[in-house]
Order: sequence, then C-alpha cells, then structure tokens
Amino acid sequence: MSLSQASEALQVLHQEVLTCRKCGLHATRTNAVPGTGPCPADVMIVGEAPGFNEDMQGKPFVGAAGKLLDTLLAGIGLRREDVYVTNVLKCRPPQNRDPMPNEAESCSPYLERQLGLIQPKVVLILGRHALERLLPGHGPISRVHGRMVEKGGVKYVALFHPAAALHNASLINDLQRDFDGVRRYLDEVLKPPPPPEPVPEPEVDPEQLTLL
Ligand code: URA
Repeated sequence: MSLSQASEALQVLHQEVLTCRKCGLHATRTNAVPGTGPCPADVMIVGEAPGFNEDMQGKPFVGAAGKLLDTLLAGIGLRREDVYVTNVLKCRPPQNRDPMPNEAESCSPYLERQLGLIQPKVVLILGRHALERLLPGHGPISRVHGRMVEKGGVKYVALFHPAAALHNASLINDLQRDFDGVRRYLDEVLKPPPPPEPVPEPEVDPEQLTLL
C-alpha cells in the first residue's frame, strides 16, 4: 500500500470510529476520539481511553496527562505533531472507569488497523490497560516498564501512564529514564546507513601505458 493509500485508509478508519456503535459507550460519549498524528509515524502512542477533556474535544491526551506527555516528548526532541496518538478505547467510559473487556474487544480491530497503517518503528504503551491489550500476560508494568519487546515485527515499550505519574511523583524519574531509552532506540534505528566504502583507484602499471 502506498503512503497516500495508507493515509486515506486512516481517514476512513477515523470516520468509522466517529460513528461507531459497536459497544454501549457510544450512548454516553460526546465525541469519539479516533487518534491524531501523521501517517506513517516512527512513534505511535497508545493510551487507555479518552477522559473528560478528550471526550469534549474529540482528541487524545489534551488534559493534564497530555501536558505531561508533551513535556516528556519534548525532553527527547519530539513534538506532538511528530507522533501518532490513540487509545485502546476510542470512547470515554462514564466517570473514567476502567475499560470493560467487551469494550476493549469491540475496539481492538480499530487499533490493529491503526498499527498496520501507521507502521511505527516503536509503540509506546501507556499504562497497564494498554499493556494488557497489546502484550497480554507480559507482566506487571512496575516490572517490565522501559523494556523493548518485539511482537509481530513491531517493537513495543511499556511506560507508566502519565496520569499515574501526576498522582505519584515518584514515577516521574522512571518515566523520564524510559523516554530516554526510547530516544536511544530511535537514534539507533533511524541512524543513516554508513556511506559506501570509497572504490579504490585501479593501480596502473606504467609499462602498460601507451602514449596516444
Ligand atoms: N488518558 C488516556 O489514556 N488517554 C487519553 O486520551 C487521555 C488520558
């Protein structure tokens, strides 16, 4: 699929999400929140679900957790416009309750399609709900955060959810360290290939030289 076909397919997917009625959350949402960012993108971020502000604006991570996310991204030289951001659930659960298994199940084909279209070099998994959906049984986030894991040819790294760090400041250092690890990984994979070896000049045997 060409880049413009992928971009168009992503727009179609966004439209489907905006009118989705696959689970009960459509009845309580203000806006569905498909995702934002470029296609393709080296970095794709997957959070849990829209909250109050996201539901109001139809965009992911626009509240306090989003501000912290932007600060962490800036710390490794990335802007929000550089990354594709979405959530496991595209609609806000009432009172920001945890996603229910049937809701995550209904939404999961959207996330799978997004992964296929965005073709990220690395997926940042924010929080335990996204971790359980993308790498089921991988382990508690307190143990596996910051580790790069490969699945289906895609690299994933689980990170503490920025909202958790807003409530527990001791997580900030871990988050910053893990973001630094993401930067190092990107530097490695985005490194331009070394220039080709110079081709040695053929040695000329003076005896073979003929004068014109
Ligand atoms: N928390 C999330 O997981 N996603 C958002 O979009 C906002 C807050």
